[in-house]
Amino acid sequence: MKVFGISGSPRQGGTDYAVNYGLNYLKDNGCETRYFSARGKDIKFCIHCDYCIKNKKGCVHKDALLEFYDGMIWADGIIMGTPCYQGTLSGQTKTMMDRCRAILAKDPLILKGKVGMGLAVGGDRSGGQELALTTINNFYILNEMIPAGGGSFGANLGASLWSHDKGSDGVAADEDGLRTLRKTLKRFYDMMARTRKVA
Ligand SMILES: Cc1cc2nc3c(=O)[nH]c(=O)nc-3n(C[C@H](O)[C@H](O)[C@H](O)COP(=O)(O)O)c2cc1C
Repeated sequence: MKVFGISGSPRQGGTDYAVNYGLNYLKDNGCETRYFSARGKDIKFCIHCDYCIKNKKGCVHKDALLEFYDGMIWADGIIMGTPCYQGTLSGQTKTMMDRCRAILAKDPLILKGKVGMGLAVGGDRSGGQELALTTINNFYILNEMIPAGGGSFGANLGASLWSHDKGSDGVAADEDGLRTLRKTLKRFYDMMARTRKVA
C-alpha cells in the first residue's frame, strides 16, 4: 500500500516530526511511502483563473506543487499534517487543498476511494486542532475519499498533538498526542487494507 505524507508547515518542526513518525510506522508495516513538505517551497495560491477547468491539463502554476500532485495521484492513502494557525490549519495546507482543483478538473474521480487521515499540531493543547482536523476530513469527504479517525479517547477526528510551541522536541515529548497518532495510524492502515482488498 502506498502512503503519501504531507506537512503543511513552513519549517522542520512538530508537524514534520509527526508526519514522519507516521510514515515510519507504516513503512515498518510494509507500506511504500513518499513525503512532501511545504518547507522552503514556493507555493502559489489558486487564482481561480479556471485554466484547469477549461483546458483539463492541470494547473496554470508550474511550481513546487507538481511533486505534491504526483504524490496525491500515486497514493492509496494520504496523511495530511498541519500546524494550527489562528485556530485552524495553516495557509500552506489550505492552499494545497485549493490547488487540488486542478487535478480534479482533469479527472473528477482522481481521489475517489483513497483513505485519508488528518494530523494537527498546536502550540496549545486546544489551539484549533479539532477545526483543523474537521477541515482536512471535509476535504476528504468533498473529494470522495474515505476519512479515517482514531476512535474515542482523544483521536475521534484524527491525530491531535501539542508542541508546547517547542517544535519537534515538544511533539516528541507529547505522549498523549503520540498515542492519538498511533490510534489513528492503526485505523488508517486497517481501512486501507480493507479497501485495497475489495478494490
Ligand atoms: C501564525 C501562527 C499562528 C499560530 N496560531 C496558533 C493557534 O491558533 N493555536 C495553537 O495552538 N498554536 C498556534 N501557533 C503555534 C503553532 O501551532 C505551533 O508552534 C506548532 O508547533 C507549529 O507547527 P510546527 O512545529 O510544525 O511548525 C501559531 C503559530 C504561528 C506561526
